[in-house]
Amino acid sequence: MRLAAAFALFSDLRAAVRVAFWPTLKDLYHNPALILHVSRTFMTHVWAAFSASTDQNGRLVKRAFLPNATGTVLDLGAGFGHTIQYLNCSKVTKYVALEPNAEMHSHIRRTAECAGFRESDGSLVILSCGAEDTMQILEVLGGPHPVDTIISVLTLCSIPSLKGVITSLVRDVLKPGGQFLFYEHVLSPRADVAWWQRFWTPLWSIFFDGCRLDCPTHLHIGNIKYVDDDGKELSIWDEGETWGKPGESAENLWWHQAGQFRKRVQ
Ligand SMILES: C[S@@+](CC[C@H](N)C(=O)[O-])C[C@H]1O[C@@H](n2cnc3c(N)ncnc32)[C@H](O)[C@@H]1O
Ligand SMILES: *[C@@H]1O[C@H](CO)[C@@H](O)[C@H](O)[C@H]1NC(C)=O
Ligand SMILES: *[C@@H]1O[C@H](CO)[C@@H](O)[C@H](O)[C@H]1NC(C)=O
Repeated sequence: MRLAAAFALFSDLRAAVRVAFWPTLKDLYHNPALILHVSRTFMTHVWAAFSASTDQNGRLVKRAFLPNATGTVLDLGAGFGHTIQYLNCSKVTKYVALEPNAEMHSHIRRTAECAGFRESDGSLVILSCGAEDTMQILEVLGGPHPVDTIISVLTLCSIPSLKGVITSLVRDVLKPGGQFLFYEHVLSPRADVAWWQRFWTPLWSIFFDGCRLDCPTHLHIGNIKYVDDDGKELSIWDEGETWGKPGESAENLWWHQAGQFRKRVQ
């Protein structure tokens, strides 16, 4: 791996510190209790500055499959609501934005309303819990299996105990026949790139609210199993595929994979 690619992280880190350091310090001055969530506060400012360009960067990939979302859509880590623009509103009956950072909720509400999703008629639901809180998701949406499509865009990298969390989301929240659509940066299949991803993750995750560069998210999703009535372990998916971002360098520390999986009708 070229050293320039291995150390590419520092230009991102520098840009992030440039936009987020003083605003984070200012927030801490006004509310010292934020010291407990300083990485999240920092990340809020980073994402406010860079989410639009990040979205632009993945637009072609997202445009090719996010319009496939149907029915009740659960958007994990909705952020500022960038995913809403890719939905085909004639196929989506309810947009559920799961976003633990409440400072982002007003943006989500505004963007969703422009697309015709409203809390007043139940077509928009904003949840403040994390993706790991499946009990609360089921309680609010009236489970079991209330969701037709789960979407995750650049969120699963910062969820601890990822394997268990996505397994429980797919098993308990996703309807049989429902889809899981994702676009994430993941652990590279190249040993040298993966080495650097693992090396940088402890530093990177301190600044970016737990975001890891070394999650094999696409493999975790593809490998979800269930146990049938005879005690046999089977794939929970009927069909599924993953693909990369066209033109992306294999040496990218943020190596992306998109995927579309359909849950088996048991
Ligand atoms: C990098 S942003 C991506 C936002 C959005 N999906 C987009 O593409 O613009 C990751 C988001 O995940 C949220 N997040 C952090 N921890 C989470 C958790 N445990 N469950 C769900 N979302 C979480 C963050 O607050 C943040 O808004
Ligand atoms: C939807 O999914 C199918 C494969 O199931 C794919 O061929 C198609 O390009 C996807 N995108 C859209 C926008 O329908
Ligand atoms: C949206 O979905 C409708 C109904 O399935 C379809 O007729 C239309 O072509 C879709 N629009 C886009 C932009 O994909």
